[in-house]
Amino acid sequence: MKSKRPQLNHAARLAEKHFGICEHQLCIGDISIEELTNQFGTPLFIYHQDTITNTIRDLQSRLPDRFQLYYSIKANPNAAILRTILAEGCGLEIASNGELQQALSAGCKPEQILFAGPGKTKTELSAALDAEIGEIHVESIEEARWINQLAGQKKSVESISLRVNPVDTAGGAMQMGGKPSPFGIDEEILEAVVAEIQQQENTKITGVHLYMGTQILDAEILLAQYHRGISIANAVAQQVDAPLTTLDFGGGLGTPYFAHETELDLDAFQRGLIEIDEAMASSPWLTNTKAIIEPGRFLVNEAGIYVSRVTRVKHSRGKTYAVIDGGMHHHLAASGNLGQTIKRNYPLAVLNKIDELHSADLVEIVGPLCTPLDTLGRSISLPPIEAGDLVGVFQSGAYARAASPLGFLSHPTPAEVMVSTNDAHLIRRPGLPEDLLNDQQIESTDID
Ligand SMILES: Cc1ncc(COP(=O)(O)O)c(C=O)c1O
Repeated sequence: MKSKRPQLNHAARLAEKHFGICEHQLCIGDISIEELTNQFGTPLFIYHQDTITNTIRDLQSRLPDRFQLYYSIKANPNAAILRTILAEGCGLEIASNGELQQALSAGCKPEQILFAGPGKTKTELSAALDAEIGEIHVESIEEARWINQLAGQKKSVESISLRVNPVDTAGGAMQMGGKPSPFGIDEEILEAVVAEIQQQENTKITGVHLYMGTQILDAEILLAQYHRGISIANAVAQQVDAPLTTLDFGGGLGTPYFAHETELDLDAFQRGLIEIDEAMASSPWLTNTKAIIEPGRFLVNEAGIYVSRVTRVKHSRGKTYAVIDGGMHHHLAASGNLGQTIKRNYPLAVLNKIDELHSADLVEIVGPLCTPLDTLGRSISLPPIEAGDLVGVFQSGAYARAASPLGFLSHPTPAEVMVSTNDAHLIRRPGLPEDLLNDQQIESTDID
């Protein structure tokens, strides 16, 4: 069999950037992948705490003073991750009552919580008002009316921020602005919406929020959006005739998944933010306004690896299949089924053979579910693979476990582990899927 030198592919670059290699294995902190999987089993999500803190500190060091980071919980709501991020001085952006409870129980101060999302119910709004969170980001006039009503019952005046869907936007992989959208208030009707809200007795507009897309790798696109944000914020402030307290520029900072993608240029981003800061300082409405960035993916994605073990290797009609004990039920995004139009491989590696020569034979990495959708690697070049090997999917800290159909085929849910230097802690036990747990509860209730 012919062999070829492994090129420094994306997985190898990530291994080098955030992790390490010890005796042909990937190491997270000082701990080898074999030790981790022996202790915690597979399938397993592993997060490197130092990568999260380094990423946050680097980004924070580039932000002008008026800026604060709010982590968007939906990317990964594990309590240990939230506590790590809170310890770095970030706030949290939530989008449900469940996330509100997660934020509070992780120790987030209520005033450090923002609540966005297009479908907030009255119960959720009421819980957010009772908890006295920092800001509710209103996405429609109906929502503003509900808040006014609820605040009236509490005899309070609530500060609200308006999420705006601008008429034009610079982009990102998944655009959420500039086109018909359930998110935010269309800019075309903004003036009328502001005018109506100003008539309400129990709400006060104090902020503007834009979130126009995710997975943006071009600093110029982000900065162009921020400039749009400033002009919209100026217009709103002028109409309400008061300076704004906050201007939330959204999240969307990307991390490269594929060979053709390049990292966000943080130096260019930093330079552009100085101009944003100056533009805010020179506006009478925004001089003292706090600027917010609410990334999810960027803060945690590169810190996470999803690890599963090869159960068997099968050959069928000229193709080699490595069947693993994990799959798309734990990591839908890596299977290419979370809205991707082109199914590309996430950065993958055989973690116990991280520096071995690659085989000339290409392999399909497939999970145990009874569907061809359950494929995490298509025609991929790896070292010769055999049962017992450990397959790692990099870029798995964000929108991985949290965005997956954990109940599909009722396999156990994966454990999560946090590693820092030579410490590894279980931060979520493996378990039964939620629906099975619920079924058990009903059964035992019946017997009682
Ligand atoms: C309102 C809002 N803020 C922040 C985020 C986080 O986005 P990202 O992970 O791309 O930074 C999202 C993601 O959907 C969002 O809807």
